Amino acid sequence: MALKTTVITGATSGIGRETALGLAKKDHALWLLVRNVPKGEQLKKDIIAETGNKNIHVVKCDLADLQSVREAAAELSAKLVSVNVLINNAGGIFPEKKLSKDGFEMTFATNHLGHFLLTTSILPLLEKGHARIINLSSDAHKMGKANFDDLQWEQHKYSPAKAYGMAKLFNLYFTKSLAEKHAEKGVSAYAVHPGVVRTEFGAGMGGFVKILLWLARPFMITAEEGAQTSIYLATEPGMEKKSSQYFIKKKMAKSNLLSWSEENRNKLWDISKKLVARSEPGK
Ligand SMILES: NC(=O)c1ccc[n+]([C@@H]2O[C@H](COP(=O)([O-])OP(=O)(O)OC[C@H]3O[C@@H](n4cnc5c(N)ncnc54)[C@H](OP(=O)(O)O)[C@@H]3O)[C@@H](O)[C@H]2O)c1
Repeated sequence: MALKTTVITGATSGIGRETALGLAKKDHALWLLVRNVPKGEQLKKDIIAETGNKNIHVVKCDLADLQSVREAAAELSAKLVSVNVLINNAGGIFPEKKLSKDGFEMTFATNHLGHFLLTTSILPLLEKGHARIINLSSDAHKMGKANFDDLQWEQHKYSPAKAYGMAKLFNLYFTKSLAEKHAEKGVSAYAVHPGVVRTEFGAGMGGFVKILLWLARPFMITAEEGAQTSIYLATEPGMEKKSSQYFIKKKMAKSNLLSWSEENRNKLWDISKKLVARSEPGK
């Protein structure tokens, strides 16, 4: 019998794939939220073949399409009684400015807004499961500034690194807000920097960044190594007292001073709520 029910995004590649494999080995029932269903079904087969754990489920969820996120949340709510672990792992960096289906800048949409809607839509399940929510941030948050007046990059020249840094800073704000707002219901939240990991991350980048990533590849850690902090936070007993914290290599780490701004995290929560509401069908 499965010990824990875990929902994970972005398990079809890199760190997420290794996190899913690691948790399947520890007997978690896995709900894989994927944008590419055939890729998700192949992953399911691979996990079953490698671990023998047959409690693996695939749910379609494109985080850059809020209706798809709503449908995924509805499917989870219909099929599950509770969720013990949610790993908001999917993410990416985009070389050119691009808009999501709902018209939001893609870095913000994929790394933050889709996960905001997913998490807040399944809160009753998370509360019932006294869940741990694990958000994949990055040390790149240290390059980020919260530019609430120009989330769409209409007034500033789009910069992939700055957009990514801001989104990863938002992952920290979201983590602290979740920890603060839902502690009473037994929900805890953690942010992770997985290390500099050899994955598909940045594969679409060109020019100087592409050369830099290629040069750095031999020094990067493997996806399996990059998954260890997420697996640790999902499984280690007694982590709840460290809720809201940022973790690197399974240890609490210092995040940028800016990441502790209460004003900014409240602002992000309010803006995100408004943006997802604005995208509801019929609005
Ligand atoms: N690699 C690093 O060095 C590093 C460092 C710090 C933080 N991180 C963070 O770690 C997380 C995992 O990154 P990774 O390195 O494993 O990257 P990756 O190999 O590129 O994997 C990204 C995953 O996200 C999924 N995804 C992307 N856009 C999506 C969308 N719109 N809807 C649903 N799923 C989507 C991808 O699905 P497909 O398979 O369909 O493409 C894939 O499964 C990200 O949040 C990243 O920001 C990575």
